[in-house]
Amino acid sequence: MIQHDAVVRLEIVDGFGIVTIDNPPVNAGSTPVRAGLLACLADVAQHDLRGVVLIGAGRSFVAGSDIREFGAPLAPPELPQVIAAIEDCPHPVCAAIHGAALGGGFELALGCDLRIAAPDAVVGLPEVTLGIVPGAGGTQRLPRLTGLAKAITLVCSGRRISAPEAHDLGLIDALAASSDPQALLTTAFRALQGAPHKRRLRDLPVPVADPDAVKTAEAQALRRGKGRPNVQEAVALVKLSAEMPTDTALARERAAFQSLRLQEEAFALRHLFFAERAATRFEGPTAQPAEIRRVGIVGGGTMGQGICRAVLAAGLPVTLVERDAQARDAAAAAITGALDRSVGKGHLSPDDAYARKAALAPSHSLSDLADCDLVIEAVFEDMKVKQDLFRVLDTMLKPGTLLATNTSYLDIDALAAVTSRAADVVGLHFFSPADMMKLLEVVRAEHSADRSLSTALAFAKTLGKQAVVARNADGFIGNRIYAAYRRHAEFLIEDGATPEEVDNAATDFGFAMGPLAVGDMSGLDIAWAMRKRQAATRDPAARYVDIPDRLCAAGRFGRKVGGGWYDYIDGQLHPSDDVAAIIAQARAAKAITPRHFSPDDIQMRLLGAILSEAAAVLADGVAQRAGDIDVTLVHGYGFPRWRGGPLWRASGEPPDRIARMCDAAAQASGAEGALGSVTDMLAPLRAERQEIEKRKSGHA
Ligand code: 3HC
Ligand code: NAI
Repeated sequence: MIQHDAVVRLEIVDGFGIVTIDNPPVNAGSTPVRAGLLACLADVAQHDLRGVVLIGAGRSFVAGSDIREFGAPLAPPELPQVIAAIEDCPHPVCAAIHGAALGGGFELALGCDLRIAAPDAVVGLPEVTLGIVPGAGGTQRLPRLTGLAKAITLVCSGRRISAPEAHDLGLIDALAASSDPQALLTTAFRALQGAPHKRRLRDLPVPVADPDAVKTAEAQALRRGKGRPNVQEAVALVKLSAEMPTDTALARERAAFQSLRLQEEAFALRHLFFAERAATRFEGPTAQPAEIRRVGIVGGGTMGQGICRAVLAAGLPVTLVERDAQARDAAAAAITGALDRSVGKGHLSPDDAYARKAALAPSHSLSDLADCDLVIEAVFEDMKVKQDLFRVLDTMLKPGTLLATNTSYLDIDALAAVTSRAADVVGLHFFSPADMMKLLEVVRAEHSADRSLSTALAFAKTLGKQAVVARNADGFIGNRIYAAYRRHAEFLIEDGATPEEVDNAATDFGFAMGPLAVGDMSGLDIAWAMRKRQAATRDPAARYVDIPDRLCAAGRFGRKVGGGWYDYIDGQLHPSDDVAAIIAQARAAKAITPRHFSPDDIQMRLLGAILSEAAAVLADGVAQRAGDIDVTLVHGYGFPRWRGGPLWRASGEPPDRIARMCDAAAQASGAEGALGSVTDMLAPLRAERQEIEKRKSGHA
């Protein structure tokens, strides 16, 4: 055995060279990995071999290039050089893939002559999701296997492709029986024996394309890519594969990658990448999560059904309990109807729909939850209803069952207090529609055990959700900050802006929808009812805008009745003269002289409101770190991902502009300025940016 480097080693078995990459946890392609690969490839060239297998130790092949290196000059050897060495290797090289082969990891595999994979492996080029383009030949080698149209779709979506699908697409030559290293090696040896010659993808022609299919794929990719410059670049690069000599196109691709990785957008997305992972961690001893084999859901309304669809999609069986037989049947029918519609639209196979229906056990008896490992409560948002339910569940569930509430605003400690198992109680705050929305706030109540939290986080991962750990508090992280943002939108309107000016400023900033259009979509009547309930306890000193009450009093409950902040004609939104009159009356009643706001004024004030509330959320310990707030607003509230989240965005603003934002937000709300705590909150992000700037200038 020849030991080159701790992270890459070569051994020779039965005349095959085996090059193992061993860089835990996911074999990211760091500088030592690239150097080790190059050294091993130089070595194998010296031996008379039947072929070479490239394989990863531990849980992955190669998860991609090491993202932490992207903010600085890349140290040699760079990945294209390693891939060129594979292509120049005198022996055929087979990538044996398990776990993930993503980004640079998949490009490494595409540089090989053959690829075999474990059935549960995933491959793909997720670079666009990091604000960049593939930088080591992905846009040139992939189309030679899939054709242009498919390659545009895959590269521009960044979609992770399962090994069986990759096999069907011709990206993988053979599937191994399992991800066991021996099974992988056996399959790789067999593949090499069956194809003993070099087969460099770069030498293959790009299959002749149907121009209409390419045009359709391009239009769809650009639409889904929301005009981001790196997606436009990715489309152009894939098309180049059919237009220019490979070396020229590869050089163009590398130059685009090198330039994009140092753009603001790529830094923002890398910030989010690491923030997303950090948000799922909590302070405290690591506890082994309990196994969840069956999930119980109580309440089959909007949220209960959505959660049920999400759990079934993750392959877990569900017992869904409603109040009576009629409500049970209605909930079950709604869920099976949704599955049938998904089949009709081609989003789900009939077999999968059948399996999900079979895994659903509707019931109207809480005693049917006795064998569940996790029970999620999604009944009416009413403390008494939930407490009564928790008391009964406490007597029925087996010891150790994780008991979760989907409450939006109620005190989880007060729910846990009526049970004898407060350590097993957590919040699982899903967003609507629960099977579509990625965010899941995992709420730690006062007595929640570490093990309960670990189990909840593992469950979130099983569902494919982005978890963020929050503390029990009114509105947790997201709803609390969003409420401040929405309230501020109302201040702006009372002060002189129009609904469309506020919403346009928000969408110009990158939000998918403005706060007022969102309000119309959700319905203004629910919040109105809540405000009426809370009227007696409201702080009389706090600024209160009564325009939404006036809209509701005029029957303008939102989109569902054809009018709210806007008029809706044939589903289309239009500014409303009636609303303008209601706003004018409200201002006149408070003797407010309307003033003009520029789009920048509006953006600054909305961001100021978000920052001030975010600082309070952090100071109260509801969120653990600044990045958690970015992750929450991006995944749950439509904050533009490519801006890295509100705090990351703000950390790039000059301090005097932040001071003006906070002052303006404070003045409008009548609250005390939060500049001190906002500055503290942004400090670690500013330090991160300064470090990046230093490294960038090193690059220049
Ligand atoms: N670079 C650096 N660190 C990485 C990494 C990467 N490419 N991929 C994962 N990690 C780190 C994570 O930050 C995490 O570190 P931590 O424990 O300190 O938080 C650790 O590896 C484990 O990652 P996950 O928590 O995400 O582990 P999972 O098992 O849930 O998921 C995975 C594994 C599917 C491989 C997932 O980590 C992943 O999707 N990774 C990113 C893949 C990617 O985007 N690759 C493309 C990179 S760009 C590129 O290659 C450019 C090329 O074209 C030149
Ligand atoms: P919903 O009114 O649509 O559904 C509640 C369901 O619970 C009803 O079908 C009702 O029959 C059932 N139910 C009531 N008491 C029951 C009991 N004792 N046993 C069994 N079933 C019972 O309400 P929705 O919107 O689904 O909300 C449920 C919970 O989720 C609330 O706590 C809400 O605050 C929270 N939530 C709601 C979101 C939303 O957008 N709708 C978003 C996030 C959380």
